Amino acid sequence: MSSFLSNSSVGKKLVMSVTGCFLVLFILFHMSMNLTAIFSREAYNLICELLGANWYALAGTAVLAAGVALHFIFALVLTWDNYRARGSQRYAVTVKEPGVEWASKNMLVLGWIILAGLALHFINFWAKMQLVEIMGGEENSLGLDAANGYDLILYTFSHWYYALIYLLWFLALWFHLTHGVWSMFQSAGWAGDTWYPRLKWIARIVATIVFLGFACVVVIFYLRANGCCCC
Ligand code: HEM
Repeated sequence: MSSFLSNSSVGKKLVMSVTGCFLVLFILFHMSMNLTAIFSREAYNLICELLGANWYALAGTAVLAAGVALHFIFALVLTWDNYRARGSQRYAVTVKEPGVEWASKNMLVLGWIILAGLALHFINFWAKMQLVEIMGGEENSLGLDAANGYDLILYTFSHWYYALIYLLWFLALWFHLTHGVWSMFQSAGWAGDTWYPRLKWIARIVATIVFLGFACVVVIFYLRANGCCCC
């Protein structure tokens, strides 16, 4: 079984879709959790407290890290396999293939951008919250309580450049998901003439919900932090 998953192309794609599906579920959960911050400071900070440095949250973080690592390692392996399979053709000038979307050709590049965004995100949030608690501290370098996610969001997005970088990060995630969610179903064998366009639409809808869900938090907190009275 394990050699099927790591040796065959179908097995590797299956690992990509199972880990991808898990990551999409995390992203939808994380997005819903963040939306709470728009409506209630107390509720959001309570959720942050529950997701602090207790064993359940730490186990969740470890599983998540393993999911991201597997997804990325198998993406690199599949790209390498494709590169080798193309043989001498890889030096030919790439002709623009009709019907092949930009996102599908740039999944690895988009993956690198998402990973870079994630590194910044960890420095901005995770290192100032869960990590502080793991290290036995209560306050982070900004003088905020480690479970005070609300004020940390407010502080981060008070800076226009963070707001902009995050919106660009979500855009890369949008492109990645439009192809990724569709290809996840396809690898599971759920395709065909009828379902092909439907799956494309499902992928676009999921990607757009994720984009709008995350982006509205950034925009609302940027406006809030900069004294806009309407939000
Ligand atoms: C408006 C946008 C976002 C906000 C306000 C936000 C907020 C947060 C906060 C407060 C934490 C720290 C939780 C803790 O340590 O207790 C966190 C962790 C994390 N975020 Fe985000 N996030 C956003 C977008 C994203 C996106 C787009 C992704 C993925 C593509 C993501 C992935 C993660 C991951 C993997 C963690 C670590 C999870 C863990 O501690 O178990 N976040 N985020």
